[in-house]
Amino acid sequence: MAPIKLHDKSFDTYLSEAVIQEKIRELAARINADYQGKRPLFIAILNGSFMFAADLFKHLTIDAEICFIKLASYKGMKSSGNVVTAIGLDQDLFDRDIVIVEDIVDTGKTLHDFLPKLSHQQPASLRIASLLHKPEATQFPLQIDYVGFSIPNKFVVGYGLDYDGLGRNLKEIYQLA
Ligand code: IMP
Repeated sequence: MAPIKLHDKSFDTYLSEAVIQEKIRELAARINADYQGKRPLFIAILNGSFMFAADLFKHLTIDAEICFIKLASYKGMKSSGNVVTAIGLDQDLFDRDIVIVEDIVDTGKTLHDFLPKLSHQQPASLRIASLLHKPEATQFPLQIDYVGFSIPNKFVVGYGLDYDGLGRNLKEIYQLA
């Protein structure tokens, strides 16, 4: 397919709609098997994960709940790290099986900062599903239980991911040319 332009940059097609959808069906099948008889709560992180979360959720046959949250990060007064607050997380996570749904894990910092907040509430289990993972960019190692695609350390857009606000509507994933 022809390259696309967003703002000042060109992007080439990288993962087609069919390839993405097939991978999501595979991930959903694994999740259906792993959570048989349970009622996991999916926590999808906005904005980027909205398409992946919706398509993944459609293929679940188990009882499942979902909520969408936004992470806001600010510099802590004393701590050296950032403090992450979850906006929209009003469920009680105690003793629940939690699956975090992310669009992409890049350095791993976002989840590294956020996971302790969730563990603090003592869920029964805590797993991560990420459509994309850039292993070469890892600075904060994480165990990602359900990975769609491991990709090179290049900027990507589409299927929920944006470049400066644009590209989220694309059905395919594109890579910086
Ligand atoms: P991390 O904290 O470095 O793992 O980055 C996670 C967040 O950065 C993702 O949820 C995305 O919003 C954003 N991000 C990282 N890499 C890309 C990319 O290639 N394209 C678009 N957004 C990205």
